Amino acid sequence: MRVAFIGTGGIARSHAPGLAKRNDITFVGTYDAVPERSAAFAKDFGGDAYPSIAELLDQAKPDAAWVCLPPFAHGEAELALAKRRIPFMVEKPISNNMDTARVILNAVEQSGILAVAGYMTRYRRSVKRVREILANDPPILLHGGWVGGTPGVMWWRIKEQSGGQIVEQTTHTFDLARYLAGEPKLVYAIGARGFIKDLPHYDVEDASSVTVQFANGAVGTLVSTCASQAGGGVHLTLAARNAYITFTGWEQSAVIRKSALEEERITGESNIFEIEDGAFIEAVKTGNLKLVLSPYSDAIKTLAFCLAANKSLGTGQPVPVESI
Ligand SMILES: NC(=O)c1ccc[n+]([C@@H]2O[C@H](COP(=O)([O-])OP(=O)(O)OC[C@H]3O[C@@H](n4cnc5c(N)ncnc54)[C@H](O)[C@@H]3O)[C@@H](O)[C@H]2O)c1
Repeated sequence: MRVAFIGTGGIARSHAPGLAKRNDITFVGTYDAVPERSAAFAKDFGGDAYPSIAELLDQAKPDAAWVCLPPFAHGEAELALAKRRIPFMVEKPISNNMDTARVILNAVEQSGILAVAGYMTRYRRSVKRVREILANDPPILLHGGWVGGTPGVMWWRIKEQSGGQIVEQTTHTFDLARYLAGEPKLVYAIGARGFIKDLPHYDVEDASSVTVQFANGAVGTLVSTCASQAGGGVHLTLAARNAYITFTGWEQSAVIRKSALEEERITGESNIFEIEDGAFIEAVKTGNLKLVLSPYSDAIKTLAFCLAANKSLGTGQPVPVESI
């Protein structure tokens, strides 16, 4: 399979080493707004660096592409791929706004290509096991979130670009909550500002707390902060009638308690991008769409969930997710 990368920053370099290990993959080309970055990536993994997306796609002729762009930069790449019927994997969040995501979804559906989002947590064995358990015992209460410091890339701290922490980072937890508890109906969010004063251009919330009502009546709270330089971590806890489950860490290790005496522990995988990319590659090769767990058409619902929380942060009012 001939693969191309559009956007060759941090996350592209998390996908590429696993792909490079496979004998069914050839890197044929890259594009990045910063040509030196694109050239360095091509030098490290193969193919050529192209001066535009159109030239990359028309000259390198990839069979599939990885779109690893920041939240504000989506649109041109996905539309160019859909026009040429080239399947793609796009990193989360799929955009920082619904209009762009809807235009892309429409183009993807018109062209009939496979387009998947990088919610890699869905591929973890802990998540698969918990989904089995919760299929007949739905969670009633969820609480979780993402607690840590502010990532270093400049666009992250500018709300207009990244969408803020909920849209860019805690989106993994919002997505996991949706995946395990079903669709969210209503969100109500409050945020904290003014504690981080030392970062130039910083205008995202320092912290937020989002109360969620799910369509089936379950409730939850999802918290975020990028103010904790001492760290904190990632977690999600779910309480059902017959199971109490806690995911912890980026790797989503799970402790599943079914009674005071019965506990199951599942450690998260460290090579999750290889697993996620492997599923996408197999789906492209075989046409078996069941292999991919985060199709674009589903990821757009996680974006709406996160943007509903953002809207509530702005208005101070509860926001129905379907209004987004
Ligand atoms: N799945 C995960 O766990 C995970 C982890 C990290 C980042 N991400 C996501 O990956 C995306 C990229 O993050 P990153 O950490 O790689 O950021 P980054 O800033 O390190 O890299 C982004 C690259 O895109 C390039 N770029 C920006 N605008 C462009 C444009 N219009 N056209 C072409 N290139 C452009 C930049 O020059 C840069 O090289 C973000 O959406 C982020 O949320 C996902």
